[in-house]
Amino acid sequence: MEKTLRFPKNFLWGTATSAYQVEGGNKNCDWAKLFDAGKACDHYNRYEEDFELAKSLNQNAYRFSIEWSRIEPKEGKFDQKEIEHYREFLKALKVRDMKVMATLHHFTNPLWLAEIGGWTNKKVVFYFSRFAQKMFDEYKDLVDFWITINEPLIYGVLSYFQRRWPSPETKTYPLPFYARRVPNFISFLKVLRNQILAHKKIYETFHQAKKDAKIGIAKNNVFLEPANKKSVLDVFSVKIYNYFWNELFLNKIKNHLDFIGLNYYFHNKIKFPFRMRNENKIVSDLGWEVYPEGIYHVLKDLKKYNLPIYITENGIADKKDKLRKDFIKNHLRWVWQSIQERVDVKGYFHWSLIDNFEWDLGFEPRFGLVKIDYKTLERKPRPSAFYYSKISKENAI
Ligand code: FCB
Repeated sequence: MEKTLRFPKNFLWGTATSAYQVEGGNKNCDWAKLFDAGKACDHYNRYEEDFELAKSLNQNAYRFSIEWSRIEPKEGKFDQKEIEHYREFLKALKVRDMKVMATLHHFTNPLWLAEIGGWTNKKVVFYFSRFAQKMFDEYKDLVDFWITINEPLIYGVLSYFQRRWPSPETKTYPLPFYARRVPNFISFLKVLRNQILAHKKIYETFHQAKKDAKIGIAKNNVFLEPANKKSVLDVFSVKIYNYFWNELFLNKIKNHLDFIGLNYYFHNKIKFPFRMRNENKIVSDLGWEVYPEGIYHVLKDLKKYNLPIYITENGIADKKDKLRKDFIKNHLRWVWQSIQERVDVKGYFHWSLIDNFEWDLGFEPRFGLVKIDYKTLERKPRPSAFYYSKISKENAI
Protein backbone atom coordinates (compact mmCIF):
# COMPACT_ATOMS: atom_id res chain seq x y z
CA MET A 1 0.00 0.00 0.00
CA GLU A 2 1.23 3.43 -0.90
CA LYS A 3 1.32 5.92 1.93
CA THR A 4 -1.42 8.60 2.03
CA LEU A 5 -0.08 12.03 1.24
CA ARG A 6 -2.01 14.88 2.83
CA PHE A 7 -2.18 18.36 1.38
CA PRO A 8 -2.24 21.59 3.41
CA LYS A 9 -5.49 22.83 4.85
CA ASN A 10 -7.58 24.98 2.48
CA PHE A 11 -5.74 23.66 -0.55
CA LEU A 12 -7.55 24.58 -3.77
CA TRP A 13 -8.59 21.72 -6.02
CA GLY A 14 -9.83 23.16 -9.23
CA THR A 15 -9.88 23.02 -12.99
CA ALA A 16 -9.02 25.62 -15.61
CA THR A 17 -10.52 26.71 -18.92
CA SER A 18 -10.25 29.75 -21.16
CA ALA A 19 -13.06 31.67 -22.82
CA TYR A 20 -12.38 31.11 -26.51
CA GLN A 21 -11.65 27.43 -26.00
CA VAL A 22 -14.98 26.62 -24.39
CA GLU A 23 -17.55 29.41 -24.76
CA GLY A 24 -18.49 29.29 -28.43
CA GLY A 25 -20.26 31.90 -30.53
CA ASN A 26 -17.49 34.49 -30.70
CA LYS A 27 -16.92 36.19 -34.06
CA ASN A 28 -15.36 39.26 -32.67
CA CYS A 29 -11.83 38.22 -31.75
CA ASP A 30 -8.69 37.66 -33.79
CA TRP A 31 -8.79 33.86 -33.43
CA ALA A 32 -12.25 33.63 -34.96
CA LYS A 33 -10.91 34.85 -38.31
CA LEU A 34 -8.30 32.12 -38.72
CA PHE A 35 -9.47 29.30 -36.50
CA ASP A 36 -13.18 29.43 -35.88
CA ALA A 37 -14.12 27.54 -32.72
CA GLY A 38 -17.80 27.65 -33.72
CA LYS A 39 -20.03 26.81 -30.81
CA ALA A 40 -17.13 25.04 -29.03
CA CYS A 41 -18.59 23.53 -25.81
CA ASP A 42 -21.28 26.20 -25.53
CA HIS A 43 -19.96 26.92 -22.05
CA TYR A 44 -21.27 30.45 -22.57
CA ASN A 45 -24.79 29.09 -22.16
CA ARG A 46 -24.11 25.92 -20.20
CA TYR A 47 -21.86 27.22 -17.47
CA GLU A 48 -24.37 26.38 -14.72
CA GLU A 49 -24.40 22.76 -15.80
CA ASP A 50 -20.59 22.73 -15.92
CA PHE A 51 -20.23 24.30 -12.47
CA GLU A 52 -22.73 21.84 -11.10
CA LEU A 53 -20.59 19.06 -12.51
CA ALA A 54 -17.38 20.55 -11.10
CA LYS A 55 -19.03 20.91 -7.72
CA SER A 56 -20.36 17.35 -7.79
CA LEU A 57 -16.77 16.27 -8.52
CA ASN A 58 -15.72 17.97 -5.29
CA GLN A 59 -13.80 20.78 -6.91
CA ASN A 60 -13.60 23.90 -4.80
CA ALA A 61 -12.09 26.34 -7.31
CA TYR A 62 -12.38 27.35 -10.94
CA ARG A 63 -10.08 29.24 -13.27
CA PHE A 64 -11.55 30.80 -16.40
CA SER A 65 -10.95 33.82 -18.61
CA ILE A 66 -13.04 36.87 -19.35
CA GLU A 67 -13.27 37.43 -23.10
CA TRP A 68 -12.07 40.96 -23.77
CA SER A 69 -13.63 41.02 -27.25
CA ARG A 70 -17.06 40.42 -25.75
CA ILE A 71 -16.74 43.09 -23.07
CA GLU A 72 -15.22 45.74 -25.34
CA PRO A 73 -16.30 44.90 -28.90
CA LYS A 74 -15.42 48.41 -30.09
CA GLU A 75 -12.58 50.46 -28.67
CA GLY A 76 -13.84 52.27 -25.57
CA LYS A 77 -17.39 50.86 -25.84
CA PHE A 78 -18.21 48.41 -23.10
CA ASP A 79 -21.08 46.01 -23.62
CA GLN A 80 -23.31 46.08 -20.57
CA LYS A 81 -25.07 42.86 -21.55
CA GLU A 82 -21.78 40.96 -21.55
CA ILE A 83 -20.75 42.55 -18.26
CA GLU A 84 -23.98 41.20 -16.77
CA HIS A 85 -23.34 37.81 -18.35
CA TYR A 86 -20.04 37.41 -16.52
CA ARG A 87 -21.59 38.75 -13.33
CA GLU A 88 -24.16 35.94 -13.46
CA PHE A 89 -21.39 33.49 -14.32
CA LEU A 90 -19.37 34.59 -11.28
CA LYS A 91 -22.39 34.48 -9.00
CA ALA A 92 -23.07 30.93 -10.16
CA LEU A 93 -19.60 30.01 -8.90
CA LYS A 94 -20.04 31.87 -5.64
CA VAL A 95 -23.36 30.23 -4.76
CA ARG A 96 -21.52 26.94 -5.12
CA ASP A 97 -18.87 28.18 -2.76
CA MET A 98 -16.08 27.94 -5.30
CA LYS A 99 -12.94 30.07 -5.22
CA VAL A 100 -12.64 32.05 -8.41
CA MET A 101 -9.54 32.79 -10.46
CA ALA A 102 -10.14 35.10 -13.42
CA THR A 103 -7.68 35.50 -16.28
CA LEU A 104 -7.81 38.77 -18.16
CA HIS A 105 -5.83 37.77 -21.25
CA HIS A 106 -5.78 34.23 -22.52
CA PHE A 107 -4.36 34.50 -26.07
CA THR A 108 -7.34 36.24 -27.76
CA ASN A 109 -7.83 39.91 -28.64
CA PRO A 110 -10.69 42.09 -29.83
CA LEU A 111 -10.47 42.62 -33.60
CA TRP A 112 -10.02 46.36 -33.22
CA LEU A 113 -6.84 45.75 -31.24
CA ALA A 114 -5.48 43.25 -33.76
CA GLU A 115 -6.11 45.82 -36.49
CA ILE A 116 -3.79 48.34 -34.89
CA GLY A 117 -0.94 45.89 -34.34
CA GLY A 118 -2.14 43.90 -31.33
CA TRP A 119 0.39 43.68 -28.54
CA THR A 120 3.16 45.31 -30.57
CA ASN A 121 1.36 48.64 -30.33
CA LYS A 122 2.42 50.64 -27.26
CA LYS A 123 -1.18 51.73 -26.77
CA VAL A 124 -2.10 48.20 -25.72
CA VAL A 125 -0.76 49.05 -22.27
CA PHE A 126 -3.40 51.72 -21.89
CA TYR A 127 -6.18 49.70 -23.56
CA PHE A 128 -5.55 46.49 -21.67
CA SER A 129 -5.22 48.15 -18.29
CA ARG A 130 -8.38 50.17 -18.91
CA PHE A 131 -10.26 46.94 -19.66
CA ALA A 132 -8.69 45.30 -16.59
CA GLN A 133 -9.67 48.23 -14.39
CA LYS A 134 -13.25 48.01 -15.62
CA MET A 135 -13.35 44.30 -14.81
CA PHE A 136 -11.94 44.98 -11.39
CA ASP A 137 -14.51 47.68 -10.65
CA GLU A 138 -17.33 45.38 -11.71
CA TYR A 139 -16.24 42.10 -10.16
CA LYS A 140 -13.82 42.81 -7.33
CA ASP A 141 -16.16 41.26 -4.78
CA LEU A 142 -16.71 38.11 -6.84
CA VAL A 143 -13.17 37.27 -7.93
CA ASP A 144 -10.61 35.89 -5.47
CA PHE A 145 -7.55 35.80 -7.73
CA TRP A 146 -6.66 37.76 -10.84
CA ILE A 147 -4.31 36.54 -13.53
CA THR A 148 -3.29 39.38 -15.83
CA ILE A 149 -1.80 37.39 -18.71
CA ASN A 150 -1.75 33.71 -19.51
CA GLU A 151 1.63 32.37 -20.69
CA PRO A 152 3.06 35.66 -21.95
CA LEU A 153 6.03 33.99 -23.64
CA ILE A 154 4.05 31.28 -25.39
CA TYR A 155 1.73 33.95 -26.72
CA GLY A 156 4.61 36.19 -27.80
CA VAL A 157 6.49 33.38 -29.51
CA LEU A 158 3.63 31.64 -31.29
CA SER A 159 1.72 34.73 -32.36
CA TYR A 160 4.45 37.27 -33.05
CA PHE A 161 7.83 35.54 -33.32
CA GLN A 162 6.76 32.48 -35.34
CA ARG A 163 3.34 33.77 -36.43
CA ARG A 164 1.86 30.30 -36.31
CA TRP A 165 -1.04 31.74 -34.35
CA PRO A 166 -3.14 34.76 -35.26
CA SER A 167 -1.12 37.93 -35.18
CA PRO A 168 -1.64 41.28 -36.85
CA GLU A 169 0.59 39.95 -39.66
CA THR A 170 -1.06 36.56 -40.03
CA LYS A 171 -3.82 36.84 -42.56
CA THR A 172 -3.89 33.25 -43.81
CA TYR A 173 -3.13 29.86 -42.37
CA PRO A 174 -0.75 28.27 -42.73
CA LEU A 175 1.50 31.22 -43.26
CA PRO A 176 3.45 31.41 -46.50
CA PHE A 177 6.68 29.43 -46.25
CA TYR A 178 9.01 32.44 -46.19
CA ALA A 179 7.14 33.97 -43.27
CA ARG A 180 7.36 30.79 -41.25
CA ARG A 181 11.09 30.79 -41.88
CA VAL A 182 11.70 34.36 -40.81
CA PRO A 183 10.84 34.81 -37.17
CA ASN A 184 10.02 38.34 -36.16
CA PHE A 185 12.18 39.01 -33.16
CA ILE A 186 11.50 42.74 -33.02
CA SER A 187 7.74 42.25 -32.74
CA PHE A 188 8.30 39.67 -30.07
CA LEU A 189 10.39 42.07 -27.99
CA LYS A 190 7.78 44.80 -28.30
CA VAL A 191 5.09 42.40 -27.13
CA LEU A 192 7.19 41.37 -24.16
CA ARG A 193 7.84 44.96 -23.15
CA ASN A 194 4.16 45.83 -23.39
CA GLN A 195 3.09 42.78 -21.42
CA ILE A 196 5.47 43.70 -18.61
CA LEU A 197 4.33 47.32 -18.55
CA ALA A 198 0.66 46.35 -18.63
CA HIS A 199 1.06 43.78 -15.87
CA LYS A 200 2.79 46.26 -13.57
CA LYS A 201 0.26 48.97 -14.22
CA ILE A 202 -2.65 46.64 -13.47
CA TYR A 203 -0.97 45.41 -10.31
CA GLU A 204 -0.60 48.97 -9.08
CA THR A 205 -4.09 50.17 -9.89
CA PHE A 206 -5.77 47.08 -8.42
CA HIS A 207 -3.81 47.47 -5.22
CA GLN A 208 -4.62 51.13 -4.96
CA ALA A 209 -8.30 50.22 -5.07
CA LYS A 210 -8.06 47.20 -2.79
CA LYS A 211 -5.05 46.54 -0.60
CA ASP A 212 -5.56 42.80 -0.33
CA ALA A 213 -6.32 42.16 -4.02
CA LYS A 214 -4.46 39.11 -5.30
CA ILE A 215 -2.77 39.51 -8.64
CA GLY A 216 -0.59 37.01 -10.43
CA ILE A 217 0.52 35.71 -13.79
CA ALA A 218 0.17 32.25 -15.35
CA LYS A 219 3.69 31.38 -16.38
CA ASN A 220 4.55 28.36 -18.47
CA ASN A 221 7.83 27.08 -17.06
CA VAL A 222 9.74 24.14 -18.47
CA PHE A 223 12.00 21.75 -16.63
CA LEU A 224 15.33 21.90 -18.46
CA GLU A 225 18.23 19.54 -18.03
CA PRO A 226 21.56 19.18 -19.80
CA ALA A 227 21.51 16.24 -22.24
CA ASN A 228 24.88 15.34 -20.81
CA LYS A 229 25.38 16.45 -17.20
CA LYS A 230 29.16 16.36 -17.64
CA SER A 231 29.18 18.58 -20.68
CA VAL A 232 30.06 22.15 -19.73
CA LEU A 233 28.44 23.38 -22.91
CA ASP A 234 25.18 21.57 -22.26
CA VAL A 235 25.09 22.84 -18.69
CA PHE A 236 25.79 26.35 -19.92
CA SER A 237 23.04 26.11 -22.56
CA VAL A 238 20.55 25.10 -19.88
CA LYS A 239 21.51 28.16 -17.82
CA ILE A 240 20.94 30.50 -20.75
CA TYR A 241 17.72 28.86 -21.77
CA ASN A 242 16.45 28.72 -18.23
CA TYR A 243 17.16 32.39 -17.78
CA PHE A 244 15.31 33.49 -20.89
CA TRP A 245 12.39 31.09 -20.76
CA ASN A 246 11.75 30.55 -17.07
CA GLU A 247 13.17 33.55 -15.22
CA LEU A 248 13.40 36.74 -17.21
CA PHE A 249 9.71 37.62 -17.23
CA LEU A 250 9.23 36.76 -13.57
CA ASN A 251 12.31 38.73 -12.60
CA LYS A 252 10.90 41.79 -14.32
CA ILE A 253 7.57 41.64 -12.48
CA LYS A 254 8.53 39.97 -9.21
CA ASN A 255 7.82 43.08 -7.18
CA HIS A 256 4.39 43.27 -8.76
CA LEU A 257 3.05 39.85 -7.86
CA ASP A 258 0.98 38.48 -5.00
CA PHE A 259 1.38 34.92 -6.19
CA ILE A 260 2.85 32.93 -9.06
CA GLY A 261 0.65 30.82 -11.29
CA LEU A 262 2.53 27.92 -12.82
CA ASN A 263 1.46 26.13 -15.98
CA TYR A 264 3.52 22.96 -16.17
CA TYR A 265 3.55 20.78 -19.28
CA PHE A 266 7.11 20.33 -20.55
CA HIS A 267 10.51 18.83 -19.86
CA ASN A 268 13.42 19.18 -22.24
CA LYS A 269 16.98 18.01 -22.35
CA ILE A 270 19.23 20.54 -23.96
CA LYS A 271 22.14 19.64 -26.16
CA PHE A 272 24.47 22.48 -27.06
CA PRO A 273 23.69 24.61 -28.98
CA PHE A 274 20.10 24.65 -27.83
CA ARG A 275 18.86 21.44 -29.38
CA MET A 276 15.95 19.93 -27.51
CA ARG A 277 15.73 16.29 -26.77
CA ASN A 278 13.01 14.43 -24.95
CA GLU A 279 13.05 11.05 -23.34
CA ASN A 280 9.53 10.34 -24.53
CA LYS A 281 9.11 7.19 -22.47
CA ILE A 282 5.45 8.11 -22.01
CA VAL A 283 3.73 10.51 -24.36
CA SER A 284 0.26 12.05 -24.66
CA ASP A 285 -1.96 11.86 -27.75
CA LEU A 286 -0.12 14.97 -28.92
CA GLY A 287 3.28 13.34 -28.48
CA TRP A 288 4.07 15.60 -25.52
CA GLU A 289 6.34 13.85 -23.06
CA VAL A 290 4.83 13.01 -19.66
CA TYR A 291 7.44 13.83 -17.03
CA PRO A 292 5.88 14.32 -13.58
CA GLU A 293 9.14 14.80 -11.71
CA GLY A 294 9.70 17.98 -13.70
CA ILE A 295 6.98 19.81 -11.80
CA TYR A 296 8.98 19.29 -8.61
CA HIS A 297 12.13 20.84 -10.06
CA VAL A 298 10.24 23.77 -11.54
CA LEU A 299 8.51 24.40 -8.21
CA LYS A 300 11.78 24.22 -6.31
CA ASP A 301 13.22 26.79 -8.70
CA LEU A 302 10.29 29.11 -8.06
CA LYS A 303 10.85 29.00 -4.33
CA LYS A 304 13.40 31.80 -4.58
CA TYR A 305 10.63 34.31 -5.34
CA ASN A 306 9.18 33.72 -1.92
CA LEU A 307 5.58 33.91 -3.08
CA PRO A 308 2.59 31.60 -2.80
CA ILE A 309 2.28 29.37 -5.86
CA TYR A 310 -0.83 28.04 -7.55
CA ILE A 311 -0.52 25.45 -10.26
CA THR A 312 -2.76 27.19 -12.75
CA GLU A 313 -2.53 24.46 -15.42
CA ASN A 314 -1.32 20.90 -15.76
CA GLY A 315 -2.99 18.29 -17.90
CA ILE A 316 -2.79 15.82 -20.74
CA ALA A 317 -4.39 15.14 -24.14
CA ASP A 318 -5.61 11.59 -23.59
CA LYS A 319 -8.74 10.72 -25.51
CA LYS A 320 -9.05 7.22 -24.12
CA ASP A 321 -8.28 8.31 -20.56
CA LYS A 322 -5.58 5.68 -20.29
CA LEU A 323 -2.87 7.87 -18.82
CA ARG A 324 -4.73 10.67 -17.07
CA LYS A 325 -5.21 9.00 -13.71
CA ASP A 326 -1.52 8.20 -13.32
CA PHE A 327 -0.64 11.58 -14.78
CA ILE A 328 -2.59 13.29 -12.00
CA LYS A 329 -1.35 10.99 -9.29
CA ASN A 330 2.31 11.24 -10.22
CA HIS A 331 2.32 14.98 -10.71
CA LEU A 332 0.57 15.47 -7.39
CA ARG A 333 3.05 13.24 -5.61
CA TRP A 334 5.82 15.51 -6.80
CA VAL A 335 3.83 18.61 -5.87
CA TRP A 336 3.39 17.11 -2.39
CA GLN A 337 7.13 16.48 -2.20
CA SER A 338 7.89 20.11 -3.02
CA ILE A 339 5.48 21.21 -0.26
CA GLN A 340 7.41 19.03 2.20
CA GLU A 341 10.48 20.98 1.16
CA ARG A 342 8.75 24.25 1.99
CA VAL A 343 7.57 25.37 -1.40
CA ASP A 344 4.38 27.29 -0.69
CA VAL A 345 1.99 25.59 -3.13
CA LYS A 346 -1.58 26.50 -2.32
CA GLY A 347 -3.65 24.98 -5.09
CA TYR A 348 -3.84 22.90 -8.23
CA PHE A 349 -6.01 23.61 -11.28
CA HIS A 350 -6.17 20.71 -13.69
CA TRP A 351 -6.32 21.52 -17.40
CA SER A 352 -9.14 21.04 -18.12
CA LEU A 353 -12.62 20.57 -16.74
CA ILE A 354 -14.04 19.71 -20.17
CA ASP A 355 -12.63 18.83 -23.60
CA ASN A 356 -12.17 22.01 -25.60
CA PHE A 357 -10.79 23.83 -28.61
CA GLU A 358 -7.03 23.36 -28.52
CA TRP A 359 -6.04 26.45 -30.52
CA ASP A 360 -4.47 25.68 -33.90
CA LEU A 361 -4.93 21.97 -33.25
CA GLY A 362 -8.71 22.19 -33.13
CA PHE A 363 -11.01 19.82 -31.28
CA GLU A 364 -9.07 16.59 -31.68
CA PRO A 365 -6.86 16.79 -28.56
CA ARG A 366 -8.91 15.79 -25.53
CA PHE A 367 -7.74 17.47 -22.35
CA GLY A 368 -10.97 17.16 -20.38
CA LEU A 369 -11.66 15.33 -17.17
CA VAL A 370 -15.12 15.44 -18.68
CA LYS A 371 -15.70 14.25 -22.22
CA ILE A 372 -17.67 16.42 -24.62
CA ASP A 373 -19.69 14.88 -27.41
CA TYR A 374 -19.41 17.71 -29.95
CA LYS A 375 -22.54 16.60 -31.77
CA THR A 376 -24.89 16.65 -28.81
CA LEU A 377 -22.71 18.70 -26.43
CA GLU A 378 -23.41 16.10 -23.81
CA ARG A 379 -20.95 16.07 -20.90
CA LYS A 380 -19.69 12.78 -19.52
CA PRO A 381 -17.05 12.52 -16.79
CA ARG A 382 -14.19 10.19 -17.63
CA PRO A 383 -13.00 7.72 -14.96
CA SER A 384 -10.07 10.02 -14.13
CA ALA A 385 -12.59 12.73 -13.18
CA PHE A 386 -13.78 10.52 -10.33
CA TYR A 387 -10.23 9.84 -9.30
CA TYR A 388 -9.51 13.57 -9.12
CA SER A 389 -12.79 14.02 -7.28
CA LYS A 390 -11.67 11.61 -4.57
CA ILE A 391 -8.38 13.47 -4.14
CA SER A 392 -10.20 16.78 -3.89
CA LYS A 393 -12.62 15.41 -1.35
CA GLU A 394 -9.99 13.82 0.86
CA ASN A 395 -7.42 16.57 0.33
CA ALA A 396 -4.96 13.74 -0.05
CA ILE A 397 -3.62 11.14 -2.44
C1 FCB B 1 -1.60 25.93 -22.44
C2 FCB B 1 -2.70 26.94 -22.66
C3 FCB B 1 -4.09 26.36 -22.58
C4 FCB B 1 -4.19 25.00 -23.21
C5 FCB B 1 -3.08 24.10 -22.73
C6 FCB B 1 -3.12 22.70 -23.31
O1 FCB B 1 -0.43 26.38 -23.02
O2 FCB B 1 -2.61 27.98 -21.71
O3 FCB B 1 -4.97 27.29 -23.14
O4 FCB B 1 -4.26 25.12 -24.57
O5 FCB B 1 -1.84 24.68 -23.02
